[in-house]
Amino acid sequence: MKRIPIIAGNWKMYKNRDEALEFIYQVNDKLPESSNVETVICASAVYLRDLVKRQGDNLRIGAQNMHYLDEGAYTGEVSAEMLKNIGVSYVVLGHSERRAYYNETDETVNLKTKKAIAEGLVPIVCVGEELEVREKGTTNKVVGKQVELAYKDINKEEALNTVVAYEPVWAIGTGKTATKEQANETIIAVRKVLEKLYDLETADKIRILYGGSVKPDNIKDLLSMSDIDGALVGGASLVADSFLKLAEAADK
Ligand code: 13P
Repeated sequence: MKRIPIIAGNWKMYKNRDEALEFIYQVNDKLPESSNVETVICASAVYLRDLVKRQGDNLRIGAQNMHYLDEGAYTGEVSAEMLKNIGVSYVVLGHSERRAYYNETDETVNLKTKKAIAEGLVPIVCVGEELEVREKGTTNKVVGKQVELAYKDINKEEALNTVVAYEPVWAIGTGKTATKEQANETIIAVRKVLEKLYDLETADKIRILYGGSVKPDNIKDLLSMSDIDGALVGGASLVADSFLKLAEAADK
């Protein structure tokens, strides 16, 4: 079965509102049809609404985090309902930077994933191993466990509305991409975990992205692999021209 690829930019804490709008105007009319490739920009919460209002037909907007509760006295936090209310479509959850610097745990990733689904947002659930895990040879086990915990108490129908992003921590912002074989092998292991949790048909439908130093010059190789369904891209998504190149590479 054919899975529609996704090219998602994760802007992290880059770009002010003016720069973000300039980018949107540059890419809007040039992006491929969303029936061929879904393109997403995950940006700072401050101007998500501005981006949603200006998103072209083939672009969707995502957040980079959210809280798992409906509302409450949580200074500085943003809820899933707030994101949905302003027209946001996707949300990155469990990014390794949030796991490393903001106490994100497998448990909170699970709570957030459930809340995002309930609110009708598409969660991009991030998993990935540290370098020492890769060197020890336990990557598939560690990443598999992260997936299992992220999908706890999520049923098959709900799981179909999620996306997984496999991002080896050692490949993020380092210029060191996992080889296409390494990326594909771990993504196949992730799909096996999804098959174990649900069934083969469901696992075959869920999009699994690779992230970590994806650039216009390595995207084609990555996308040529059996199980890599697109990319979650940091640095290379900040420049309109390279984001367009990534989207074009995924447009078959
Ligand atoms: P880079 O593409 O800059 O390595 O970042 C990857 C990433 O963390 C996307 O979420």
